[in-house]
Amino acid sequence: MSADVSRRDFARLAGAALGAAAGAKSTAAAENETAASADRHAPAPFPKGFLWGTATSSYQIEGAVDEDGRGKSIWDIFSHTPGKIEDGSTGDRANEHYHRYKEDVALIKALGVKAYRFSIAWPRMFPDGSGQPNPKGLDFYNRLVDELLANGIEPYATLYHWDLPQVLQDRVGGWRSSDTSKAFADYAAYVAARLTDRVKTIFTVNEVGRFVNFGYGWGIDAPGPKLPAAQLNQARHHVALAHGFAVQAIRASGRAGTRVGAAENIAACVPAIATPENIRAAEIATRELNAGFLGVVLEGKYTDGFLAYAGADAPKFTPEELKIIGTPNDFVGLNIYAPQYYVTASDRASGFRVLPFPASFPHMNSEWLRVGPEVIYWAPRLAAKIWNIETIYISENGTSSEDKISADGQVYDLDRIMFLRNYLTQMQRAIAEGVPIRGYFLWSLMDNFEWIFGYGKRFGVYRVDFETQARVPKLSAAFYRDVVARNAIGV
Ligand code: BGC
Repeated sequence: MSADVSRRDFARLAGAALGAAAGAKSTAAAENETAASADRHAPAPFPKGFLWGTATSSYQIEGAVDEDGRGKSIWDIFSHTPGKIEDGSTGDRANEHYHRYKEDVALIKALGVKAYRFSIAWPRMFPDGSGQPNPKGLDFYNRLVDELLANGIEPYATLYHWDLPQVLQDRVGGWRSSDTSKAFADYAAYVAARLTDRVKTIFTVNEVGRFVNFGYGWGIDAPGPKLPAAQLNQARHHVALAHGFAVQAIRASGRAGTRVGAAENIAACVPAIATPENIRAAEIATRELNAGFLGVVLEGKYTDGFLAYAGADAPKFTPEELKIIGTPNDFVGLNIYAPQYYVTASDRASGFRVLPFPASFPHMNSEWLRVGPEVIYWAPRLAAKIWNIETIYISENGTSSEDKISADGQVYDLDRIMFLRNYLTQMQRAIAEGVPIRGYFLWSLMDNFEWIFGYGKRFGVYRVDFETQARVPKLSAAFYRDVVARNAIGV
C-alpha cells in the first residue's frame, strides 16, 4: 500500500502546524481545541510555560571558517585529515549559517518555539585561544542574539561544543593541560561581560562524556589520537575544572541572575525491569558511571568507586580544584538520545549489573541510536534524585532519519515522528511525576555536519540541500509545531 499524500494534503498538514508564521494562528488553535476535546485519551498537556526549543552548534552549521578573523579549530584540522570523516566532507561551508542566520531564525520562529540553543565558536572570539579577542567574532553573535530577540526567541548559548582553538591544541595539548581550563575561564568571562545583558542562560560545555572519550579515549573524534587511561582521566578533570572556572567567571563578569550549567550526555541507565531493586541498581549505576564529570560537578568530589576503579590512572587533583569544580550550578542540561545501559540489581560490590544488548535491539538510522523512549523518563528521574537537582533541561533529543525526498518534493520522516512522539510521551510521564524538567531542545533545527558521519546523517526537522542551501520543512517540523502549539502531544 502506498501512502498517497498529495502536495496539497501536505501543505494543509504543514500549514495547520506551521501556520503561525503565515498568520493562520487562530485557525490552527481552533482546530487544536476541537481535536483535544474530541479525544478523551489525549495525553495531559505539559505544564504552562514549559520551554520548547531547538538546538544546533557552531561548527556543525556556521561555515565561513576563514572569515572575519576566525582562527582554526581542532575540527577544521581533523575534518581535513583524510580518512577521518566518513564521506570526506568538512564544515568549511556546512549550512552557511554565518551568512544565512536571519533565514534560519525565521525557521525557528515558524516552529513556534520560544528558545534556541546555539553554540559560540571559541576560535571566532579568540583566534589565538586566549589573549587578544576578535571583535568581529563577537559582532556575529551580537547580530544573532538581536535577531532572535527581535523574533521573540530566547537565546541559550553554549560556550564549548567541541571546536577548541587549534592553537591551544598545538601549544599545550588542548584539554591535556589545565592551561586550557584557564583559557576557557577567560573566554567565558569575555562572553559573559558582553552578551549576558541579553543572553540569560549559558551552557558551559557540551557532552564531556562524548568529546573526551571519543577525542582522547578512542581518538575517533578531534583531536585524537588515543591516549592512555591516566591522560584521558586527567583531560576529563581539566574539562570539569574549566566548567567550574567558567561558572565562577560568568557569575563575576555577567549580569546578576545569569543562569549557568553544563549540557551532558549523561551515561543513561535504565532498569531492565522496573522492580524496586533494579531501580535502586540503576540509581547506583547512574551515580558511578557519571562520576567523572556530572558527579564531580554536582558533588564536588569523585566517588570512592570511581577512584578505586581508576586506581593508578585516577586524575591528579587538589582540594582547591574540587571546590572550584563543585561551584553550585543553576540547572543541569541532559542530552538524551539512547538508553546506554540496561541494568539489574546484583550481589556484586558495585550493586548493579549491566546487561548485554542483543544484536536485534532496534535502532534508528544511526546505529548507535537505539530506540528506548523510557530513557528520557529514567535518566532525569534518577539524576534529579541522586543530585537533588531542581531544574533540568533536556538540552538535546532527536534522531537521524533517511529523509529521502518523495516524488512530490516532501520528506515524510515518519520514523522521526514516531521517535519524538514516544520520547515526548515518556518525558511528559516524568514531568507528571514531578521530575523537574523545565524545557526541551530538539536536536536539530536543520540537517548539518554530523561530525565523523559528515553530511550522511540527517538530524534536522528542516531538510537542507547542501548544494543549493535550500531548507525545506520535513513532516516532523509540522509534528513538532503542533506539539508546541498545543503544549501537548497529539495522538
Ligand atoms: C551532539 C551533537 C550531535 C548529536 C547527534 C550530540 O552528541 O551534541 O553535536 O550532532 O548528538 O549525534
